[in-house]
Amino acid sequence: MEHNFAKGLENIVALESSITFIDGEKGILEYRGFDIAELADMSYEQVSYMLIYGRLPDRNELKSFSDELKELRTISDSAFNVIRFCNYNIEAMDALRTTISFMSHCDPDLNDNSPEANIRKGMRMIARFPTVVASFSRTKHGMEELEPDPELSHSANFLYMLRGTRPSELEARILETDFILSADHELNPSTFTARTIASTLSDIHSSVIGGLCALKGPLHGGARMAVMEAIDEIGSVDKVENFVIGKVEKHEKLMGFGHRVYKTYDPRAKVYKKLAKEIAEDRGDMLWFDIAERMEEIAYREFVGKKGKPIYPNVDFYSGVVYKYLDIPSKLATAVFAIGRISGWIAHCLEQYSDNRLIRPRAKFVRSEK
Ligand code: ACO
Repeated sequence: MEHNFAKGLENIVALESSITFIDGEKGILEYRGFDIAELADMSYEQVSYMLIYGRLPDRNELKSFSDELKELRTISDSAFNVIRFCNYNIEAMDALRTTISFMSHCDPDLNDNSPEANIRKGMRMIARFPTVVASFSRTKHGMEELEPDPELSHSANFLYMLRGTRPSELEARILETDFILSADHELNPSTFTARTIASTLSDIHSSVIGGLCALKGPLHGGARMAVMEAIDEIGSVDKVENFVIGKVEKHEKLMGFGHRVYKTYDPRAKVYKKLAKEIAEDRGDMLWFDIAERMEEIAYREFVGKKGKPIYPNVDFYSGVVYKYLDIPSKLATAVFAIGRISGWIAHCLEQYSDNRLIRPRAKFVRSEK
């Protein structure tokens, strides 16, 4: 029997999904039929509800969903102790993976994998990811962890728990948009990993932890941290040209550029670029934005000149710039991405469980020389 073969599963359609639509040629992205531009004006709570339940909530549904998330934000003392035992040289992503794994042992729905229990477990993870990441960061920097502030939205509360002061309205709105833009992206590697684990009928915590492990990689969500570090390394606009040309000449990857699906400008990167400019102007410091914009220009020019095709920023590029202006340390970047992506993972796992077929591709056997 003949099998299709595509290295990296490129352009292979592995399953049906009604969560996210992407047109990589035209640069279109929709969640549940809503275009990225419309989504950016919603709240993260609204978008999460829509991803999970398949439709927008009415006013009462949104209120009870948001209230429930607020109530669930606190983590147990034993979970705090796990965070305190983490090695502080690690990325926040590793602490998140370890703590979520520990928290799963104590989940009241531990042995219940019904759809209702999976939604309850999902809600706890959505609510608690920010608490774990902020607490890890504060502990690592020798500061007391803070209790969540129930008056604040999901994004504003995260910034408050991270820094100890309430963020400005602009900062909270920008991070909220970041969470929304990060929330889902069809069968990206982390979501595919989560769905593959769910397809074995393993539990939803295990599926999400698999997603976290995949997101961490520098070719996926880890690129955001690399972008932030590259901007620091470059340091000034006049050094951008040598940096980019050096990468191209050495055939090294430019982090935050290129995409498997988008053959044009990533629509999320367009939104992030606007946000980065807005927050840079608000801070009265354009340096990081200017470095990034120059990187984009030089990368485009070099790729067109040397490879005969352009290269564009992806979701991780200007989001890294936004994080710098929000004073989010680079070692937190991938974990902050995960705070947004968790509702997408939950939605995909629920969809997988609801119409499951084991995900089990084939390998093309290549006999090695004896
Ligand atoms: N820097 C330099 N060259 C690149 C880059 C890049 N960022 N992206 C693609 N290219 C080049 C490749 O070297 C290749 O060149 P060639 O035709 O001369 O061999 C060509 O463009 C095609 O690229 P592929 O690697 O085949 O594209 P693929 O679909 O496999 O890669 C990927 C997509 C992995 C995202 C790639 O663009 C990349 O490594 N980017 C940098 C890491 C990054 O930013 N990842 C985040 C992606 S978004 C997300 O996951 C949240």
